[in-house]
Amino acid sequence: MLIDGKELKVLRTENEIQERIKGIGEEINKRFGVEDEVYIISVLKGSVMFTVDLVKHLKMPLRMEFIRLASYGNDFTSSGKVRAVDISLPDLNDNNVVVVEDIIDTGRTAKFLVDFINLHFKPKNLIFCALMDKKIKRVVDIDADISGFEVDDKFLIGYGLDYQGYYRNLTYIGYIDV
Ligand code: IMP
Ligand code: MG
Repeated sequence: MLIDGKELKVLRTENEIQERIKGIGEEINKRFGVEDEVYIISVLKGSVMFTVDLVKHLKMPLRMEFIRLASYGNDFTSSGKVRAVDISLPDLNDNNVVVVEDIIDTGRTAKFLVDFINLHFKPKNLIFCALMDKKIKRVVDIDADISGFEVDDKFLIGYGLDYQGYYRNLTYIGYIDV
């Protein structure tokens, strides 16, 4: 496929993604008892594909919450500022919380969210789970508790990640050289 005249190369196939998500699901299952209630907090829009595939593997009673944060300033780089578009959350005090993110890039979004939750609530457990981790781009000190793939500094598209709002529905993760 061509995007703006550039070839979209495959980074992770649909099979690789689904296999890894199954593994992540098992890891989350191990951290909780089968009767522990969990709040899944999914960060829209990028995490939507990952979230729906991940929760299918989870065995505990869970509730799904969706919040919307924005950080990307232009097409390819983070603006450096995180904007809370919609961050309405239930009472997370004394609850098990799993945050589900598509990708940690600079880390600002992840840090903003973890700080926000810890400022307003005292969760019993807070696990930050990201499908992809661009470690090399980190500017703030934050790490995922569980991450799917470490990825290079490439602009990624597909499986939730967009380019100008499009291509989130791709079943694989691709990249274009920019
Ligand atoms: P951070 O705040 O810099 O860590 O950026 C995190 C957010 O930027 C992610 O949740 C993504 O939505 C978006 N993002 C980061 N890298 C990419 C990419 O390669 N393609 C598309 N979106 C990205
Ligand atoms: Mg995101």
